[in-house]
Amino acid sequence: MHQKIDLLIEKLLKDFNEVKTMQELNDLKVKYQGKKGVITELNSAIKDIPATEKKDYGMEVNRLRSAFNEGFENIKLRIEQELINKKLEEEKIDISLPSSKRKKGSKHPFYRVIEEVEDLFVSMGYDVVDGQELEDDEHCFRLLNYTKGHPARDAQDTFYIDSEYLLRTQTSAAQSRVMQANTKKGPIRVICPGKTYRRDDDATHSHQFGQVEGLVIDKNISLADLKGTLEIFAKKLLGEDTKVRFRPSYFPFTSPSCEVDVSCFKCGGKGCPLCKKTGWIELLGAGMVHPNVLRMGGYDPDLFTGFAFGTGLDRLAMFKYAIPDIRYLYTNDVRFLKQFDRKDEEYEIKY
Ligand code: DAH
Repeated sequence: MHQKIDLLIEKLLKDFNEVKTMQELNDLKVKYQGKKGVITELNSAIKDIPATEKKDYGMEVNRLRSAFNEGFENIKLRIEQELINKKLEEEKIDISLPSSKRKKGSKHPFYRVIEEVEDLFVSMGYDVVDGQELEDDEHCFRLLNYTKGHPARDAQDTFYIDSEYLLRTQTSAAQSRVMQANTKKGPIRVICPGKTYRRDDDATHSHQFGQVEGLVIDKNISLADLKGTLEIFAKKLLGEDTKVRFRPSYFPFTSPSCEVDVSCFKCGGKGCPLCKKTGWIELLGAGMVHPNVLRMGGYDPDLFTGFAFGTGLDRLAMFKYAIPDIRYLYTNDVRFLKQFDRKDEEYEIKY
């Protein structure tokens, strides 16, 4: 028996030596360990071996099995390594080739304006909050004094997810969230820039646009603080010569409310097609926070007052960079975007 197994092992090693592929290796496994394999058959023959020789026989078959297993593992490793080496060789990168030039992008004008507004207000001690684009009716409307069925809701139709959730129509929604989150009912000074949505479908409106909301609440905040803040805002963003004009208006969440115009940056106020010959361009809505809104936000209107303002970021970007059509901001045309790779001072704006 011993001799027989020696011979078989010799044959086995020869077989292993000839193996080149995984397929051949697997064929060998069938030859030795398959249903009719050499080792399997030797194993089943054990029942015919006299009891006294069984132990020796078993050990000898095991010797062959171990030799097979060891050889099998070695050859398998060798083939796998060869495959990896071959792949590495094939995928070698020739780093001596000149690279194709990477095109550099530039910051979207919308985000340039957001960053500028953020820098300005952060320098005046404001925090920047995100708010949420998917809002509920409560924060987008009810806590801002738009009761159910309030006529001012008509101007702000949007995309409803269900009867309670909608894509926010105004970043003003952040007001109610910030007031609620301020559990100590301390002073608030925040801006909230971001995307807003309305069901608009005419050529001068987009269903998605940007706004920035500002909210200040403290003791003794007056309309004079609002005026001063917005004057700084207009001058810093649109130029020191910009004049600001306040007109009475209506918003449910402010009282009194106003609309703020800036002197036309094209004609300086003389009147031209851009300002429709009025000399003024409408910039934003603002006002003193309505006592109901303060109360619903947990602030005592006898102790606290506040102001709020909200402006369209697209409009600001269009004014700043003389962009003639709002749709340029959303069509992702590289030829348009490529123009915004310079510093602000390097633009010569022509309206
Ligand atoms: N949320 C208003 C809008 O989308 C803009 C606005 C007006 C915001 C007056 C304000 C405000 O904070 O005081 O039309």
